[in-house]
Amino acid sequence: MALNSLILGLQWGDEGKGKIVDALSKEVHAVCRFQGGHNAGHTIKVNGHQTVLHLTPSGILHPNVNCLIGNGVVLSLEALDKEIKGLEEAGISFDKRFFVSSSCALILPSHISIDKVRDKKESIGTTGRGIGPAYEDKIARRAIRFGDIGNEQLLRDKIELLVSYHNRLLVELYNEDPHNIEDMIKELLSYKHLYDKYCTDTQDLLYKWVKADKPLLFEGAQGTLLDIDHGTYPFVTSSNTTAGGVSTGLGLGPKYIDKIIGISKAYATRVGEGPFLTELFDDNAKMLAERGREFGATTGRPRRCGWLDLVALKKAIFTNSVTDLCLTKLDVMDEFKSIEVCVDYKDNAPVFKIFDGWESSSEGVTDFSKLPIKAQEYINFIEDFIECSISIISTGPSRDQTITR
Ligand code: GDP
Ligand code: IMO
Ligand code: MG
Repeated sequence: MALNSLILGLQWGDEGKGKIVDALSKEVHAVCRFQGGHNAGHTIKVNGHQTVLHLTPSGILHPNVNCLIGNGVVLSLEALDKEIKGLEEAGISFDKRFFVSSSCALILPSHISIDKVRDKKESIGTTGRGIGPAYEDKIARRAIRFGDIGNEQLLRDKIELLVSYHNRLLVELYNEDPHNIEDMIKELLSYKHLYDKYCTDTQDLLYKWVKADKPLLFEGAQGTLLDIDHGTYPFVTSSNTTAGGVSTGLGLGPKYIDKIIGISKAYATRVGEGPFLTELFDDNAKMLAERGREFGATTGRPRRCGWLDLVALKKAIFTNSVTDLCLTKLDVMDEFKSIEVCVDYKDNAPVFKIFDGWESSSEGVTDFSKLPIKAQEYINFIEDFIECSISIISTGPSRDQTITR
């Protein structure tokens, strides 16, 4: 029987999901996104060439793999069009293997304006992609959905209502310029080719694939600590980034998720505002940022860096029913004299266990026994603490710099 796997982040995003999804994609029939939008930035490196994906599932570099965007994703047609064009120019074909749910709520230019002006006051440090306001309209049952593009009159009526409301917010509450409704309708209709080619009933497709016993890979965006319910609220994104989001975001029951691979860096990073108990501000922070090239793949912002928090990781494993852990960016730790991990909290401050660094290269190692002994000890300690097997270890950004145990 074919097994379906879920890959998701256990921290604040950017754990290396793109790399791992790509590396595991060649074995599957389809890779499916179920939440988030183009706030995601998933980096893949193959033969020295780097690709950053925001909306397209990270299986797209494998020519025979199908890629699907489920109903739980909020969709910017402008971002999708741009991303497809860029990838097609690089020789990647979307023909007959790329599918987008007709139920996806659309991100409109006015959502982006609202997101940006609000963030000046609320200081979440969002990606400014309109994600929060688009999910708000979805929950309030007034979203424009991808399928609406096929019915011009309906689209007009819905846009007039929704964008009039957005304009009132922008003008009266935030002192900003309104959006021109006619221009917005024109812009949306200019993406009709995306509707014609890719808009479909993705749940129906998933049903057929499951019945035909095709192995599927579900790709999470963001991470557990950014989950709207289980993250560091209100410093979170506006979707369920955790395992439950797969069922609601694709329309497929939890029994079809066989393996849940949670990804964590060997340390921790966060972009944007919000609590980060193990954050560092010293030379170690600088070294993590430099060695790990910790700059956002979507906004280019520097990522905050700190030590791994095993208490939070253990909780994230529970939240998602993680069956296998993948530890990424081990090579980034190669030159540290000592490495700390948080094993407890006392009075809201982290309690650290200190390890000797291995001070030798783990870069590109593909066999666990070839890792420096102290790196093996670090991994074994984490594994015992979190009570979950670490079955994948990433030792570099490239597809093949991976240890599978
Ligand atoms: P995602 O959002 O979870 O897909 O992660 P991002 O792509 O935003 O950020 C991860 C960054 O780390 C990217 O630049 C990857 O190329 C890089 N990366 C992934 N795994 C490794 C690894 O094991 N070692 C190193 N040095 N870099 C890695
Ligand atoms: P990937 O998929 C890291 C963060 C933003 C901000 C908060 C809310 O690449 O891991 P939003 O624009 O979603 O309303 O912003 O969430 N954030 C991410 N941080 N990786 C991401 O995606 C993120 N997507 C959103 O920085 O703090
Ligand atoms: Mg990212």
